Amino acid sequence: MAVDYTTRNGIAVITLNNPPVNGLGFSTRLGIVEGVERAQADASVSAIVIVGAGKAFSGGADITEFNTPKATQEPTLHTVIKVVEGSTKPVVAAIHSVAMGGGLELALGAHYRVALAGAQIALPEVKLGILPGAGGTQRLPRAVGLETALNMIVSGAPVMSEKLAGAGLFDQMAEGDLLGEAVKFAQKVGAQSGPHPKVRDRKIEHPNAEGFIQFTRNMVTPMAKNFPAPLKCIDAVDAGVKLGFDKGLAAERECFVALVQTPESRALRHAFFGERAASKIPDVPSTTPVRKIERVGVIGAGTMGGGIAMNFANAGLPVTLLETKQEALDRGLATIRKNYESAVKKGRLTAEKLEERMALITPTLAYEGLKDADLIIEAVFEELGVKEQVFSKLDQVAKRGAILASNTSTLDVDKIAAFTKRPEDVVGMHFFSPANVMKLLEVVRGAKTSKDVLATVMQLAKKIKKTAVVSGVCDGFIGNRMIEQYLRQALFMLEEGALPAQVDRAIEKFGFAMGPFRMSDLAGNDIGWAIRKRRYLEKPDLKYSKIADRLCETGRFGQKTGAGWYDYKAGDRAAHPSKIVDEMVVAYSKERDVTRRKISDDEIVERLVFALVNEGALILEEGIASKASDIDMVYLTGYGFPLYRGGPMLYADTVGLYNVERAMRKYAAQPNGDAWKPAARVTELAAAGRGFNS
Ligand code: 3HC
Ligand code: NAI
Repeated sequence: MAVDYTTRNGIAVITLNNPPVNGLGFSTRLGIVEGVERAQADASVSAIVIVGAGKAFSGGADITEFNTPKATQEPTLHTVIKVVEGSTKPVVAAIHSVAMGGGLELALGAHYRVALAGAQIALPEVKLGILPGAGGTQRLPRAVGLETALNMIVSGAPVMSEKLAGAGLFDQMAEGDLLGEAVKFAQKVGAQSGPHPKVRDRKIEHPNAEGFIQFTRNMVTPMAKNFPAPLKCIDAVDAGVKLGFDKGLAAERECFVALVQTPESRALRHAFFGERAASKIPDVPSTTPVRKIERVGVIGAGTMGGGIAMNFANAGLPVTLLETKQEALDRGLATIRKNYESAVKKGRLTAEKLEERMALITPTLAYEGLKDADLIIEAVFEELGVKEQVFSKLDQVAKRGAILASNTSTLDVDKIAAFTKRPEDVVGMHFFSPANVMKLLEVVRGAKTSKDVLATVMQLAKKIKKTAVVSGVCDGFIGNRMIEQYLRQALFMLEEGALPAQVDRAIEKFGFAMGPFRMSDLAGNDIGWAIRKRRYLEKPDLKYSKIADRLCETGRFGQKTGAGWYDYKAGDRAAHPSKIVDEMVVAYSKERDVTRRKISDDEIVERLVFALVNEGALILEEGIASKASDIDMVYLTGYGFPLYRGGPMLYADTVGLYNVERAMRKYAAQPNGDAWKPAARVTELAAAGRGFNS
């Protein structure tokens, strides 16, 4: 049963008991209505308290029910709130920890609210691409004022309960025993004659409501970009201000019904669940014991090592940073300090915190300094010989049970593990650059990596605020293996008739933060060149356009050399289309005897995105990723894939795999078509009318 009913000193206590967050799914809703009716019918009860069991009052509507018949099955949340608000016996919501979305809307339907300090109060629906759909856009402005409410509704950000106490949301702040105090409060109001106050009857007070709403709309419009929900939130509040509660409620309902079916909302919900699902590894139960991580070691204070060390210092963990030479150590520490100083300048960090974090980082030139570390992450040069030196040494000095991780982006984690006598303690922790900023962490599971190492690293990732996704061992892991196919297509298209700026423009219009050529110029074209040289040896049959090699032969490595696929001006990162490069591209087509053709923006997008999808499907087939949403999380958090499209695999589902496969076959018939053999997983799912996520 999702709701418990008890009585206490003449007060009915309705306890939401639907772990983990008391989501307001069908059975919870039913339980609340039954509880209120039972209390109404019981002459010995004078008032009702609604409280949440466990770690939340309520996290809101049950998102898993969205777009299923359960979501609209009566009693809907509307009905529940109507019953609560209509109760002749006063209803008191007793709030702790979390009152979000529908949970807050339910509390707003109660006659009184008692809360503990430290509870997160929010209407976060906008983050799921929808808006509060059970009266939140109407009642919250009446409860806490228009400005606070609009801010909360449009941002979805939580506000601490104590901050809202003065705003009129709570009738009493409880000090310790929430339920005891709520029951006492209920006894008091239960003894008073009704009618009891309803938030819906309050007025929205504001000296210039219309002006403020317009101001908010002007602010939000450029920020909302591809997300329809924020402006709809404003429309619903606006309707309530202008037309009153009931018409406002109807406007809210209409917006909710429209938004919940949008692809943007589907994508945001997919990302919400995808992030949580990523931390679950099919054969590693949640009960797996984890190792204690209190001290961290990082080897190499270069681009990655410095950023990795910052992550742990930011989380309050002491880090020992090891280098081979004093200059390298000094340089690394100076870069870390510079990064923190820039955060101080931007007002994101205080000067004291800067010093606190720097003090957590201990530089060393001696491996002895790592002997107490519980986790050691290697970020030295990308050469197997150097990794061998480091891991053999670690095997000697690291304490028993220490986790030994490599940040390698291309090398075989199993080979690295074999440099030690404890391969079960070795794992890949592939951070993305800049490591202190990027959310993604690919956790590379070696053949012998033990389950408790994986469980520990996944838990630690949360502590350092990363989205961790497990990848099996393969060349490029999930993200870089897929991006290689995307880049191959980008180069083929140059050869066939497109120019770099056109390709970038098309995919950026689709929503990518940066097109492939701007991205390559930023990362350094020499990096891709080195990878391709390796490929030419390892996979001589794999076809590549050589146009990028031509570019590199002229020394155009990208931003760092002031010229790449684009021209750059000193002190400016803006990419200017380059006449030299365009001519080089056209000359290359001629040399290859290719008649250049106009390539449409649609084709560019399809070839880039479906190349990701096809490789993603192979990655699933091979078990490198355990679920499609993991791949989407990699792309959303590490590669600038547009959030409102939910990642490549969800996007493919949205287009329909039948259509995706058809497009692949069409491209297979074109020149450079041998890259387009649809993966068996694509063909099977398309034939079954299913998607990667269904
Ligand atoms: N519906 C269904 N499941 C939910 C949920 C919800 N509203 N909120 C959380 N969960 C699930 C999570 O998926 C997760 O499941 P799992 O254990 O199987 O992975 C579990 O609850 C725990 O969630 P977290 O790992 O996020 O736990 P935290 O303690 O870190 O955070 C929280 C708790 C702050 C409540 C956070 O989960 C959260 O922000 N949830 C979303 C809240 C939200 O968006 N509510 C609005 C819902 S829409 C709505 O109410 C519509 C209404 O206006 C009509
Ligand atoms: P980097 O060249 O900036 O830094 C490497 C550092 O390691 C240097 O400071 C060097 O002095 C130090 N070093 C070399 N040998 C050492 C040894 N034996 N002991 C201690 N220190 C030693 O390189 P970067 O870019 O930081 O890369 C490091 C690792 O991270 C590589 O494996 C790379 O593939 C990987 N990586 C790099 C990414 C990037 O974008 N740069 C992204 C993800 C992973």
